[in-house]
Amino acid sequence: MGADGRVNERIENYTKFWEKDSAKDTETERDNRLNNYTDVINGYYDGATELYEYGWAQSFHFSRFYKGEAFLQSLARHEHYLAAQMNLKPGMLVLDVGCGVGGPAREIARFADVRIIGLNNNDFQIARARKYTKRAGLEEQVSFQKGDFMKLSEIFGEAKFDAVYAIEATCHAPSFEGVYGEIMKVLKPGGTFGVYEWVMTPQWNPSIPSHKAIAHGIEVGDGIPEMRPQSACIDALKTVGFEIKHEEDLADRPDEVPWYYPLEGDVSKAQTFWDYFTVWRMSWSGKIVTQSTVKVLEWIGVAPKGTYDVGEALKVAADALVAGGRQKLFTPMFLVISNKPTSS
Ligand SMILES: C[S@@+](CC[C@H](N)C(=O)[O-])C[C@H]1O[C@@H](n2cnc3c(N)ncnc32)[C@H](O)[C@@H]1O
Repeated sequence: MGADGRVNERIENYTKFWEKDSAKDTETERDNRLNNYTDVINGYYDGATELYEYGWAQSFHFSRFYKGEAFLQSLARHEHYLAAQMNLKPGMLVLDVGCGVGGPAREIARFADVRIIGLNNNDFQIARARKYTKRAGLEEQVSFQKGDFMKLSEIFGEAKFDAVYAIEATCHAPSFEGVYGEIMKVLKPGGTFGVYEWVMTPQWNPSIPSHKAIAHGIEVGDGIPEMRPQSACIDALKTVGFEIKHEEDLADRPDEVPWYYPLEGDVSKAQTFWDYFTVWRMSWSGKIVTQSTVKVLEWIGVAPKGTYDVGEALKVAADALVAGGRQKLFTPMFLVISNKPTSS
């Protein structure tokens, strides 16, 4: 492992976990990814984290947009919405499952006046999360723990948190039941779990090759061992004992500006002046500039080897996400609010 927490070898190995052609990507490759999920996901985020921060923000998720709404404002509003739906109250102890570099944790801590522990299995991201949180003066309120979300109860013990949320992270789990079951254990009785889940919508049919190709593009481009249908998310929550209070695909709202617009790279759709730069970075010319720079940085040894290939995977992701969004086959914002029963 390098001094910054990244492991070059796993970045270089990342793309080998998939067959390029979705028709040739079979259960064998999928099972290999599920069995090696830690290497798959850490390889991806070791390569992708700086690209995410440069191209997107410190919050690694999507959001809905209102007309004229600035990109960063919309990300923050999406976080506030989750906190509001979960009814977070000042002083609560909250767990952020798969916390990235802590963008949402810092925002929700300020918004809801709660204490947050961010859990993440990626050393490089944890180090950056701590640095940004110190810089924001939020160290007393927001802290970070390295660990696998499939082992939450081992890490924290049972019934520790008043509330738990996960933003676009639990789709990386080798099984929904596994991660939701662990969340159930670490929640106090009566506690709330709120999630923005990445799922394929009920319109998705994996036996249609073009549908399968979209899921495959999202998997390889985003470090997800296996994309699953919406029903799998709900079934898993119920199986582990959650009481579902609200479920809604927010991508289904009749928004004039769709959630995937920044990925389309069409600068004419930017909602504010500053957002031109964000959208440009996603345009064909922006991607050429980024990837050429990454190539040079890799060559001179500043960026780890394999970062360029992960960048290429991100381009595949953008196309698949936009296609999935336009055809309503995929959503990154399946919102579910559920409770742990008060007595079991
Ligand atoms: C798309 S990012 C979202 C990050 C954050 N929720 C945000 O919105 O900025 C997914 C996150 O899940 C984390 N993650 C994936 N698998 C994990 C695991 N098994 N245990 C802990 N964290 C994991 C990744 O390291 C990454 O930080």
